[in-house]
Amino acid sequence: MRIAVLASHQGTNLQAILDAVRSGQLDATVGIVISNNSRSGAMKRAKTAGIATLHLSSVTHPDEQELDDAMLDAIMESKCDWIVTAGYMKKLGPNTLSRFNGRTINIHPSLLPRHGGHGMFGLAVHQSVLNAGDTETGATVHFLDQQYDTGAMIRQVKLPVQPGETAQSLADRLRPLEHQILIETLAQFGRAEG
Ligand code: GRF
Repeated sequence: MRIAVLASHQGTNLQAILDAVRSGQLDATVGIVISNNSRSGAMKRAKTAGIATLHLSSVTHPDEQELDDAMLDAIMESKCDWIVTAGYMKKLGPNTLSRFNGRTINIHPSLLPRHGGHGMFGLAVHQSVLNAGDTETGATVHFLDQQYDTGAMIRQVKLPVQPGETAQSLADRLRPLEHQILIETLAQFGRAEG
């Protein structure tokens, strides 16, 4: 498995993948890390780990079609056969999506289909869970499609909402579980491919 990781933020999910590769828990290589945010934690983590990085955004490529082509070219050149979007805030272009159809997975910090969709990222997701009075939340790994958070589900993990919970406490408690199901999913696909 050679994985292209797309990330916009801190990159803790990327770090979980890198750590799992290093420890031997995951038989895979991260071939490239692409971010729309050149100053993201994900980019820093990738550079520290000696992984190739690429900044691709509407700034580097104002034309959407060219951005899509540049992304697909970079992923193909890095010889990656899987894409993981881990806190990636942009939609993938149609060429990249169709070339990696069924080989692009996303992690979302809720029990989809609840609390997904446009604008549902970071603490907004957890605040939405609290506002709805949900007694449990969780994280979902799913295949990526053209919409936000709607692709076929692969794996979920649940977490009870505790009394006095805040959006931040939910985010903090959920994060290790997100990392766990992401690694489990990648390991499952890695084994399936032999
Ligand atoms: C995670 O909560 C992930 O589920 C969501 O965005 C966040 C990214 O966190 N899609 P990080 O950048 O991997 O730390």
